[in-house]
Amino acid sequence: MRQRQVYVETYGCQMNVADSEVVLSILTSAGYQKTDSLASADVVFVNTCAVRDNAEVRIYGRLGDFKHFKKENPGMVIGVLGCMAERLRKDLMESESYVDLVVGPDEYRRLPELIEGAIEGEKGIAVKLSRVENYDDIIPLRTDGISAWVSVMRGCDKFCTFCVVPFTRGRERSRSLQGVVHEVEHLSQQGFKEVTLLGQNVNSYHDGTHDFADLMAAVARADRTMRVRFTTSHPQDMSEKLIRTIAENDNICKFIHLPVQSGSDRILRLMNRTYDRAHYLSLVNKIKTMIPEASLSTDFIAGFPTETAGDHAMTMDIIREVEYDGAFTFRYSPRENTKAWLMGDDVPEEVKLERLNEIIGLQREISFAKNQQEVGRTVDVLVEGESKKSPNDYCGRTDTNKTVVFPKEDARVGEYVNVGIARANSATLFGTMVSSFSDASPESFSLEVRE
Ligand code: SAM
Ligand code: SF4
Ligand code: F3S
Repeated sequence: MRQRQVYVETYGCQMNVADSEVVLSILTSAGYQKTDSLASADVVFVNTCAVRDNAEVRIYGRLGDFKHFKKENPGMVIGVLGCMAERLRKDLMESESYVDLVVGPDEYRRLPELIEGAIEGEKGIAVKLSRVENYDDIIPLRTDGISAWVSVMRGCDKFCTFCVVPFTRGRERSRSLQGVVHEVEHLSQQGFKEVTLLGQNVNSYHDGTHDFADLMAAVARADRTMRVRFTTSHPQDMSEKLIRTIAENDNICKFIHLPVQSGSDRILRLMNRTYDRAHYLSLVNKIKTMIPEASLSTDFIAGFPTETAGDHAMTMDIIREVEYDGAFTFRYSPRENTKAWLMGDDVPEEVKLERLNEIIGLQREISFAKNQQEVGRTVDVLVEGESKKSPNDYCGRTDTNKTVVFPKEDARVGEYVNVGIARANSATLFGTMVSSFSDASPESFSLEVRE
């Protein structure tokens, strides 16, 4: 009998990417087969994001395409998973009548049963949030073979006033250190070269005995030839112990994403970020002192309620002071049921856009200047795949998370290579390979990485 085909499309953050791998693992164990072709799918899932209005608008647009496919194939089961499913629940099913299933992030174990029901014509909603579900026993279905996402905790207890995540993902809960280390050991045996430990607030990880620094150290020890990354960290939980652990372990990447959101203390207070500008800057100084080669990135929100030109100027100022290597910048998007929703949305869209563009422009100048410092250096790159712009080039990343593009020559995907950097723009370094050291022993590897 033909196996039922399941197609999953993923939006939003890396947590969603990792969750889609969990979903595919649950379904393949239940006898389904993964397909990359929407047209041949029996079950179509979209794993959604609700963080900003434009994320949801985009997904509604895509659901329109699925509706069209369902007209041609009425037996097709269409399901909405993830944060938008959790946020909109029944409304989503009512407004989009062709949607059969609405399933939140803590209910994926029920998918096989829910699909069976949908095939019988029964619509299904499963949106309960759990205090314990962490899918610890499920081995995600990974396809890339080089770089793996490993969820180590779920949920968020921070309740920043602008953010839906605590409502869509529920309370914080962590997997056991041993469970994570076993998974990483298994990935190492399978030949993976890099792991990224994931959580909405990954550095507030605690399994009852071990904190995030303990976890990072244990994962780094599991395979010294494997790069270890983590995202996303909250400034409140960025301990000195964690910074020291990053500094002391050669295979923990010297790249820290530390979202600041705003440079104004008044706005940070209204956002309930729990730190002020001085504390954030002292953290940055600690990182720069203890890990001089570290690269730093951040997130900004432009146009939070009541943000004045003066508040915005303080954000511009913190960008100059920290000199981030990169930043993600968003226009404030009011989300129903959050505390900030009650503060109104008084900064006009054109002002938000103007401030957003100023932040992006300044950050681009700084990223450009920082990338020029790489010209003439030789960097270690993990080859990740073909460059999007040229079939003759590969692209990969440095330990500090900079994208590097270089001619393929005899390199292979999944290898570490040395690339001499010849030029750079604000987003990418360009160069040519100096040597490959994929066959190096772990000892010589770590020496070369330190170079
Ligand atoms: N947990 C992470 C942290 O605290 O930094 C962030 C997770 S959130 C999914 C990613 C980013 O989206 C946030 O850092 C913030 O800049 C942005 N974001 C969240 N809610 C937003 C909103 N309502 N409007 C605009 N940007 C928002
Ligand atoms: Fe959202 Fe704040 Fe939690 Fe990050 S820390 S997920 S911004 S509530
Ligand atoms: Fe979006 Fe949910 Fe991630 S709202 S950013 S997919 S946690």
